[in-house]
Amino acid sequence: MKNIQREIEELREQIRYHNHLYYVLDRPEVADTEYDALFRRLQEVEDRYPQFVAPDSPTQRVGATPAAGFATVPHAVPMLSLGNAFNAEEMRDFDRRIRKLLDIDEVVYSIEPKLDGLSVELVYRDGIFMHGSTRGDGMTGEDVTSNLRTIRSIPLRLRSLDGLSPSLLEVRGEVYIDKADLARMNEERENEGLAPFANPRNLAAGSLRQLDPRVTGARPLKIFCYDVGRVEGISIETQEELLAVLAKLGIRVNPRYQICNGIEEAITFHERLQEEREELPYEADGVVVKVNDFAARRIAGEVTRSPRWAIAGKFPAEQGITQVKEIIVQVGRTGVLTPVAVLEPVRVRGVEISHATLHNEDEVKRKDVRSGDTVVVQRAGDVIPQIVRPLVERRSGEERPFIMPDACPACGGEVVRLEGEVAHRCLNLSCPARIKESIRHFISKGGLDIDGFGTKLVDRLVEQKLVRKVSDIFHLKRETLLSLDRMGEKSVENLLAALAASKSIPLAKLLFALGIIGVGEHAAEIFARAFMGLDRLTAATEEELCALPGIGPRTAKAVVDFFSNPANKEMLAELLAAGVRPVSAGSAAADAPTAKPLAGMRFVLTGTLSSMTRSEAGELIKRLGGTVSSSVSARTDFVVVGKNPGSKAQKARELKITILGEEYLTEADLTEVALIEADLIEADLTEAR
Ligand code: IVH
Repeated sequence: MKNIQREIEELREQIRYHNHLYYVLDRPEVADTEYDALFRRLQEVEDRYPQFVAPDSPTQRVGATPAAGFATVPHAVPMLSLGNAFNAEEMRDFDRRIRKLLDIDEVVYSIEPKLDGLSVELVYRDGIFMHGSTRGDGMTGEDVTSNLRTIRSIPLRLRSLDGLSPSLLEVRGEVYIDKADLARMNEERENEGLAPFANPRNLAAGSLRQLDPRVTGARPLKIFCYDVGRVEGISIETQEELLAVLAKLGIRVNPRYQICNGIEEAITFHERLQEEREELPYEADGVVVKVNDFAARRIAGEVTRSPRWAIAGKFPAEQGITQVKEIIVQVGRTGVLTPVAVLEPVRVRGVEISHATLHNEDEVKRKDVRSGDTVVVQRAGDVIPQIVRPLVERRSGEERPFIMPDACPACGGEVVRLEGEVAHRCLNLSCPARIKESIRHFISKGGLDIDGFGTKLVDRLVEQKLVRKVSDIFHLKRETLLSLDRMGEKSVENLLAALAASKSIPLAKLLFALGIIGVGEHAAEIFARAFMGLDRLTAATEEELCALPGIGPRTAKAVVDFFSNPANKEMLAELLAAGVRPVSAGSAAADAPTAKPLAGMRFVLTGTLSSMTRSEAGELIKRLGGTVSSSVSARTDFVVVGKNPGSKAQKARELKITILGEEYLTEADLTEVALIEADLIEADLTEAR
């Protein structure tokens, strides 16, 4: 029993460690397959010995049973909202007020991106995640603990580093989703005929308020923390310190923050972030400027639920007004007919919008968008531009309502609306629009990612019947390509080389490329990891697929249907015959060099070690890339102390060198310490820049 308990603890420790690297630091060091193996082992042992299951075990993220509703929880310290500044002048006004309140000439601010998500509070007692809630009205929120537990970047247990162990920590942050993940989810939803999420905020809010945590668990939510309520057992005096402490505790903080001396530096940061806005992986609707010093915040105080010491510097509006020229119908690779509004081009947030999808007939009816309407459009994140609503009061009477055609606009084939679906589909497998879209999807970034194979080329090849199915692209001849307009020697050579190279393709990418309904990059990755080979996946049953975390019954059914469909079997056989070879993730990862997290770091060992000999400790450090020297100097990075340390520990204290207890002498902890150190150095550098 002792052994089992020890194994369980070790497995949990390892999994927590990898979770932190993967979800918090974005720096995994083992292959996913290895992580999965650890996780499965832990699940097995816990299943066999349920008496050892603990609420903070990594296996306990996804609650099995849906909750009946949400209890309300009061916030001990109210969760405030923020006043807005819409331009630099308003930011300067804010600064003037602060300087007056504090009676100083220059204020040090901490400035961070303002995330568009849902704010939550997480409560940790003695380092264990106890419960979490939404902001609600600021005074009381909803208890969404089970859902928050499914978010991998929320640690169920805090890490502790020298002297840092709050007995109570109420930490606040924003639950959000990356733009790419939202786009991917929406694509999968549309393939399944479900309505897409309008923006990251809706998705985060909708997901956290799910009654079934399994639904939340299947959504790639993340968190960035930025504030605290009650804190007991440690003291924190500035925002900068807060962010560093949270990071050390294993809580995810946005590295993209800056300490600014005076408001002008903050304004510059705001401008720079606004320029980078499109490239940020997440949706930010502005910046939050906060007085860095907590003592000064206490002096500034608050007014009607907003602090005087912070302000949101908003980015410009995200909506525009324009005219719908007409509503056309596009045919996708799965045959779905999508109504698309062709717009009088309008710039929204610096990007010109000329089309907006209306998704399906029901959506057009619900929004009542008509040809000729004046409409409000918006761009939220990387989501396809949307029509918010028509301005009905501007109608002249000339507007024409949309009618879904009963014949496919591309091939004239039959259009049906399958039972239980909102989508209309063209059922003709050789519809040229479907072929074009399948090929475009096949060679897209998430699929074979073939350079030099643009949309126009696909169109020409399909229109001239040079390509009738996906595998045909691998049989294209030099002469054929050269005979096409605008195809020179060089581009033909490059294209053929890219096609040849793309035949060795990671299994996940091939699965995505096949365009199975509901299988986006995320699901493809899950299948590839679980099955390792195409043969095993094609033989899998719905039950087996459905048992995978993150895979729902619709997707499982779509996959089985896909692989049992004779036309698809033929397509796969043709791809294999053309030389396409899927490679599974495991084989590539096996060649990866072992990590050297301690590279460049100097250690000194002192005192008597009890868990291992000096030379074993030295070996461990060297294996991880560090060096061990015998005396402490200013160039030493870490001093590891055992029992009865002597003058070396003293010297380390004088030189302010990090001192570690001997319990840190494990691969996991040393790596962790090194990573955090590297992070802090990185943060210092960013700040200095
Ligand atoms: S600080 C009282 N920092 O903005 C100050 N808030 O409009 C506490 N938000 O409810 C908030 N990113 O949901 C802060 N980096 C950030 C933020 C942020 C997003 C949200 C938060 C808050 C709302 C206020």
